[in-house]
Amino acid sequence: MNKIAWNKDLTVGVEVIDDQHRQWIQRFNDVAAAIAAHQGPVQIGKTLAFLMDYTKLHFTTEEQLMTESGYPGLAEQHAQHQELNETLQGLLRDFEEEGATQKLAEAFNVFLGNWLIKHIRELDLKFGAFLKTKPA
Ligand SMILES: [Fe+2]
Ligand SMILES: [Fe+2]
Repeated sequence: MNKIAWNKDLTVGVEVIDDQHRQWIQRFNDVAAAIAAHQGPVQIGKTLAFLMDYTKLHFTTEEQLMTESGYPGLAEQHAQHQELNETLQGLLRDFEEEGATQKLAEAFNVFLGNWLIKHIRELDLKFGAFLKTKPA
């Protein structure tokens, strides 16, 4: 299993966002670990539900900060957030129908981990940089 790790290259520079990213990665790793350890469906379902809830909370927090600061990249962020939400919903449906298949494990290890890191690096960091240009 490829555990993803938070590192300082992922620092956005906004405390609430950085804290949430660390938590988010933790929850993501919890799901991957539960799948890899072949935990029962109830346990895996629980970690997935935690991840989904946290993802929603995180996207809402970010988009709110972007709205408040008049960030011009909000639409692009929102579109990517939406896309990930839909992907997660789809994976949850697959899990409910088919259980923790190899496909689900791969989706977590390869696609989702990369998505998350790429999104933070490419889009969230841009927002952090934008906020720094604004007078406090
Ligand atoms: Fe983020
Ligand atoms: Fe984001």
